[in-house]
Amino acid sequence: MYAFKIQGGYQLKGEVEINGAKNAILPIMIAALLTKEPLELSNISYLSDVNTLSDLLKSMGMKIKSKKNSLILTADKITNFHADYNFVSKMRASFWVLGPLLARFGEAEVSLPGGCAIGTRPVDLYLNALKEMGAEIKVENGYVCAKGPLHGADIFFPKVSVGATHNTIMAAVLTKGTTTIHNPALEPEVMDLIDVLVKMGAKISGIGTKVLTIEGVDELHGAKHNVVADRIEAATFAVAAALTKGKIFLKGAKSNLMTAVIEPLKLSNVVFKEEKDGILVDATKASLKSTSLTTSEYPGFPTDAQAPLSALLSLAPGMSLIEERIFENRFMHIPELKRMGANITVLNNNAVLITGVKNLSGAQVMSSDLRGGVSLVLAALTAKGESIVKRIYHIDRGYYQLEKKLTKLGAKIKRIKSKN
Ligand code: EPZ
Repeated sequence: MYAFKIQGGYQLKGEVEINGAKNAILPIMIAALLTKEPLELSNISYLSDVNTLSDLLKSMGMKIKSKKNSLILTADKITNFHADYNFVSKMRASFWVLGPLLARFGEAEVSLPGGCAIGTRPVDLYLNALKEMGAEIKVENGYVCAKGPLHGADIFFPKVSVGATHNTIMAAVLTKGTTTIHNPALEPEVMDLIDVLVKMGAKISGIGTKVLTIEGVDELHGAKHNVVADRIEAATFAVAAALTKGKIFLKGAKSNLMTAVIEPLKLSNVVFKEEKDGILVDATKASLKSTSLTTSEYPGFPTDAQAPLSALLSLAPGMSLIEERIFENRFMHIPELKRMGANITVLNNNAVLITGVKNLSGAQVMSSDLRGGVSLVLAALTAKGESIVKRIYHIDRGYYQLEKKLTKLGAKIKRIKSKN
């Protein structure tokens, strides 16, 4: 296993390349199952989640060619409709092959994803939607065994779910008839998937509204697509700038996708300047201000930015309140931040009260999930002394070459071997 060894106290300055969004690359790679023609994706970063999904899709017969930061995916010879537990348990978005397999081939056998550190992560919304569309669903031995054919339906999501929205849209685009989806997720990554599907010939209207109407077509064709920039990676580096009073140009980032994160940082006198190919974040005169945040669906404050912001607010004078409304257990990083000297009280499973401290001190800390892990790296960048952040395989899932990018900006961070 590996860990990051970090010496805190260095100001970050320079330019960082914001890669294609992990949470857009994954559903869009799966959308390649919907056509026998090549789907060419650029602005790809080889995150471990991307590699895991590639392995799953190849196990089904998909051809995947990678060159520099592009992928060409061709599903002209899908040999099986089985998504094995070994893949889905490692990367739950693999579950999203269910919709496309059902729509194009009429059958699928997909492992249930199971829970993860941040919550139980049920899939009831996915399965109810497919049943509305006529799927015959059996759940046995930990697998969802589904049979078509599917038909158009009127779907209502009682709760917003990014994954259930992806899965249902990808099922509907190749399903005869009209499917209406009420209360879909509006995350930029969902918009990016819809953008690709339309390029592939899908007929989708109401895009960007809370009612999507999809006219099924017989076939979809190949397309080329540049994946949208990762707003959470951009937010992470913006927090790094704020914590080190630095100045970072986020190349490729789009501020209109991260307004909910920019607002609290502006409160702390971090200046954002939109340029044609990115955002300049100037935190040289930052003075951290406490605030309260509640995570919610897009365009609200993103749950994936909650842990990074909790690291920042640990150093903001006064009291800050963070409420986590999306997942039931997304505060595993809090006890680790407290080991670094943060003063945080967990009010109940979904809220924490942070009393700002003057500074944090370096410590050995453990990542339990992707965003919690990166919040520990952020805290270590500003902590006094040396920190060791362990189990960084969590972080590698969603941040490509994080230590290289931070080193280029002036951080003192190294990837080292670790026993646990
Ligand atoms: C996606 O997860 C993202 N993952 C998550 O990012 C992100 O935090 C989440 O959306 C919310 O924005 C990817 O895109 C790969 P949901 P997803 O379905 O689709 C409940 C990261 O760090 N729910 O929108 O799994 C669910 O338990 C990851 O990059 C049901 O109850 O999230 C949760 O409480 C973490 N039944 C809420 O809805 C269902 O059938 C939102 O989950 C489905 C979901």
